[in-house]
Amino acid sequence: MTSSETASEKRSLYDRLGGVYSIATVVDDLIDRIMVDPRLNANPLVDEAHHKVPPAGFKYLVTEMLCWAAGGPQKYSGRSMEESHRDLAITPGEWQAFMDDVQTTLDKFSVPAEEQAEVESTRAAIVVSGAEGSSHPR
Ligand code: HEM
Repeated sequence: MTSSETASEKRSLYDRLGGVYSIATVVDDLIDRIMVDPRLNANPLVDEAHHKVPPAGFKYLVTEMLCWAAGGPQKYSGRSMEESHRDLAITPGEWQAFMDDVQTTLDKFSVPAEEQAEVESTRAAIVVSGAEGSSHPR
């Protein structure tokens, strides 16, 4: 926000990020990064699920969701965060590794800290509760 803007005039996160072209570019980089992250693929459920669908479709859904969540005109057509992640047994450590990848990507594209902070708010729907220190069953 510039000094001449008031809070109520503040543009949507979608506009501040630069709209669909910018968001899709960031998602493209991020998905390429997380698909090969050994810290995430160490979870066999994540490894299997990540690689059973073509990356382009996965990027499409994540782009659509982030555009929608950031206040853009898109409507998210995929499954809920809870439904698509609950069987993956994602641990707090894996969430940290994922956030580390997010950070690397956002820094690469110089996304400001204020906008970066809004991503963390989805944690509760994605990380399994009580998974602290657990290991994966297979
Ligand atoms: C801000 C955090 C995250 C967002 C916004 C996000 C978003 C999404 C979206 C939109 C989908 C597609 C849903 C569908 O198929 O309809 C998905 C699926 C998936 N996500 Fe995430 N995700 C996040 C965090 C994570 C983390 C931390 C992991 C792993 C460590 C992960 C692993 C996966 C996998 C493996 C799938 C495919 C599931 C399947 O097709 O069975 N996600 N995610």
